[in-house]
Amino acid sequence: MSAPSRLRIAVLVSGRGSNLQALIDARNDGVLPVDFALVASDKSHAPALRRAEEAGIATLALDPAGYATRAAYDADLFSRIVAAQPELIVLAGFMRILDDAAIAPWRGRMVNIHPSLLPKYPGLRTHARALDAGDRAHGASMHFVTGELDGGPVIAQVRVETRDGDTPASLAARLLPHEHQLLVATLALLAARRIALNADGIAFDGAPLAEPLRLAADGQLHP
Ligand code: GRF
Repeated sequence: MSAPSRLRIAVLVSGRGSNLQALIDARNDGVLPVDFALVASDKSHAPALRRAEEAGIATLALDPAGYATRAAYDADLFSRIVAAQPELIVLAGFMRILDDAAIAPWRGRMVNIHPSLLPKYPGLRTHARALDAGDRAHGASMHFVTGELDGGPVIAQVRVETRDGDTPASLAARLLPHEHQLLVATLALLAARRIALNADGIAFDGAPLAEPLRLAADGQLHP
């Protein structure tokens, strides 16, 4: 059987871009068979865009201020994404809520990385909320994007323990390298066409996935 073709991805970013960098590095190291169709941002000054430029990837900065409505912005953004012909859209620190009409055609072909153990703590301030609740386990999730904010089917998660004396910043910093591993490992499975979103939910190697895959210490995802 021949290997699946390389996965062509568009990545949406708003800020620092450390997750994008993890994808670029994994691609460069030959461990992630993806090609970058486009890196797009709602923030023209996002360091993530500079990282993409340095890697020779096509970039797009589109400022929402020039649009009357969210729907008008998203329609323009997504028409430009479509023109770049990605197979999969990756939201990696993209800090805008997307219009349902933009998301719907991409069902099963758009994923997001979120810094909590979903369904806990959709939205913002996830690290602070986990600490405020006294959670001993925290983590990050990769999920398919649906119209519900951070609410789509969860593909995979990584866990970290919280520690006495943790602050939101210390917890976020400890989680971040694991988040990068989770993103790369999940994209590797998607590139291998081993994950799909069906009408009933996620299929992994053709079988229904009852629980999210878990990132193990070996850096691999396991059921
Ligand atoms: C990450 O924590 C990601 O999970 C969240 O936003 C942050 C983005 O970081 N959605 P970076 O821009 O990838 O460095």
